[in-house]
Amino acid sequence: MMMNSDLMLGYDYDIWYGYGLKQPLITDISTKTNSQTILCGMSGSGKSYAANILFAKICNASDSQGKVYFADFKQDDQFSYLQECPRYYSYNSSIEALEIVYDILHKRQSGEDKSRNPVTLIWDEYMANILAIQSIDKKKADEVMRKVSEILMLGRSLAVRLVISCQRPDASAFPSGSRLNYGIVLIVGAPIKSIYEMLIPKEYIDTIGDREFGVGEGVVLLQGSRLGFIKIPMVRDIEKMKQICIEALTR
Ligand SMILES: Nc1ncnc2c1ncn2[C@@H]1O[C@H](COP(=O)(O)OP(=O)(O)OP(=O)(O)O)[C@@H](O)[C@H]1O
Ligand SMILES: [Mg+2]
Repeated sequence: MMMNSDLMLGYDYDIWYGYGLKQPLITDISTKTNSQTILCGMSGSGKSYAANILFAKICNASDSQGKVYFADFKQDDQFSYLQECPRYYSYNSSIEALEIVYDILHKRQSGEDKSRNPVTLIWDEYMANILAIQSIDKKKADEVMRKVSEILMLGRSLAVRLVISCQRPDASAFPSGSRLNYGIVLIVGAPIKSIYEMLIPKEYIDTIGDREFGVGEGVVLLQGSRLGFIKIPMVRDIEKMKQICIEALTR
């Protein structure tokens, strides 16, 4: 039975293609589990589409009392419907969303804020955002990355979560091994060995074998130890999903 802190990420890839059956791939997103999330894959692999689905699912799970912030560095067409929402931060204002979420983390850590309602920052094209800041102001970029690292390390028990997407999570934007702080790792689209090597422990990479993933399909690693293969289905009712996300960035 699903608990309301369970999040369905998608369906088991092997069972979908092997038996034509839908077996949900589920993860816990309560504060008991690290639900810091990274979503990777090359351009067109379905990252933003998956981020949108995760967004709606997080809102539908136990987090209904929580707050979501959305940083859309690229201003992807997929997210244009969010533009009027108060907690939607596009392009150059994306760092404002990080500052707000970081501030909440600190207030909770210091005891000033005793609440633990879930706070989620969804950040599309994180890597491109960091590279853009690095090219203008290296110090600023370091500060941004330090804040991200702190959220990753301290966020779980304080109910502050990041969901970031990027194409390749190069070490330059993930200081001091912070790539390993993600409890939910999703890599979609064509298998790119170098991306796997950045995020998946060596001993699991062989298990991937010669699977060929298409758009919205790929590898999932939970808590650094549970490897699975995922099929993210297309959304049946896009308008309903959009409505859930708009409300979540507004209320
Ligand atoms: N799970 C899916 N099932 C079927 N089609 C999908 C799925 N996810 C995405 N697509 C299709 O692939 C297209 C590209 O997806 P998306 O924009 O999410 O890619 P992306 O990885 O974010 O690319 P970019 O890095 O260029 O932003 C979508 O417009 C959609 O039509
Ligand atoms: Mg995208």
